[in-house]
Amino acid sequence: MNMINIIEKKKNKERLTKEELTYAVMGYVNEQIPDYQMSSLLMAIVLNGMTQEEILDLTDIMIKSGDQLDLSSIEGVKVDKHSTGGIGDKTTIAVLPLVASAKVKCAKMSGRGLGFTGGTIDKLESIPGFQTKLEFSQFMKEVNTIGLALMSQTGNLCPADKKIYALRDVTATTESIPLIASSIMSKKIASGADKIVIDVKVGNGALMKTLEDAKLLAKTMIEIGKHYQKEVVCLLTNMEQPLGYTIGNRLEVEEAIALLKGEKSDSDFKELVISLATYMVHLGRNIDINQAHEEVVKQLDTKAGFHKLLEFIEMQGGRNFSNEHLKAREIYAPISGYIKKIYAEKLGTLVKEIGGGRENLQDQIDYEVGVVLNKKVGDFIQAGELLLTVYENKKIKKEEEYLACFEITEEKVEPLPLIYEIIK
Ligand code: URA
Repeated sequence: MNMINIIEKKKNKERLTKEELTYAVMGYVNEQIPDYQMSSLLMAIVLNGMTQEEILDLTDIMIKSGDQLDLSSIEGVKVDKHSTGGIGDKTTIAVLPLVASAKVKCAKMSGRGLGFTGGTIDKLESIPGFQTKLEFSQFMKEVNTIGLALMSQTGNLCPADKKIYALRDVTATTESIPLIASSIMSKKIASGADKIVIDVKVGNGALMKTLEDAKLLAKTMIEIGKHYQKEVVCLLTNMEQPLGYTIGNRLEVEEAIALLKGEKSDSDFKELVISLATYMVHLGRNIDINQAHEEVVKQLDTKAGFHKLLEFIEMQGGRNFSNEHLKAREIYAPISGYIKKIYAEKLGTLVKEIGGGRENLQDQIDYEVGVVLNKKVGDFIQAGELLLTVYENKKIKKEEEYLACFEITEEKVEPLPLIYEIIK
């Protein structure tokens, strides 16, 4: 067997055997296959796709490339959640406490942000003292004690995915349904949960730009789940604008806290948190969806979810934020009209560039920077009214760069739908 023949086969749209995929993937992990050959194979996969059988084989190889977590000492059904990534997506921080206070156990591994999307680990690390590098025994103890725990990915969970994902990120081979499905599902299955709820984002701020591709990705992940006897539910949700009102690590944690405290009025963020938590409770307790919804709303209304969040933060070493924020800079609408577009990816990139994200994995994040939106798509704004508030520190962007993330028109604009479809 040799790598050139394997690349040739995929280039000619032929099906690869499990032995050939193992040769390529494990050879790459063990540094016997160089980056340039692996990236050539990845590009052939992006262009020519994979059969369902090849996708299952690839997922299996990635799962077995490292450790698989054994959550069997946690009693009951364990439910996990995952998002394919978007701007302002802080749902995990609010969803997990609601689900845990509704008596469903959550043992979650999360990642850091790379590129224009943020990661839950970075957001939580903006809380002073908060620890995300937990020993596995401590992680399990915490789930058994308070019903939830969250840690950063252990060194040896799906090392094949880790290495291939980093290569995809720099070789324009990210946007491929077989590669995304196998990457996400290998990590979810190796993390040991019984049931999985996946938020598949669709739109200009997401990996999937069309609803059609998002549906195909969802169906592919559900099929992989079936193969491992894991029930998977996918919510296809809008990422044409940032989720909620904040982008930036500390600001997003504060928005999640405010929601659980009951300080926030209705928003797309609140609706999505309730929906994701509802499906997790529905799967975890095997109860009717309406009953699960009622349970979740009760955790929110009674603030049981908020108290669970405080317990979780304390358990992982977190302390209160200081009262001080960076100096706020306000940006006002240049004209009156309806907000037609908020370019999520552009705004996410600006926040990353002022220090809210990393260019490279070793970069230090500035947790304090970010933006707060005052309007969402469909809202009316008067000329001179507040459009957004910017919190900058060492790196400052011009006002025009922020304004270029918005489109305002005279014609009335309808608010965007949040949930397009739920696929089981
Ligand atoms: N998230 C992942 O974990 N992998 C992908 O390929 C895309 C999003």
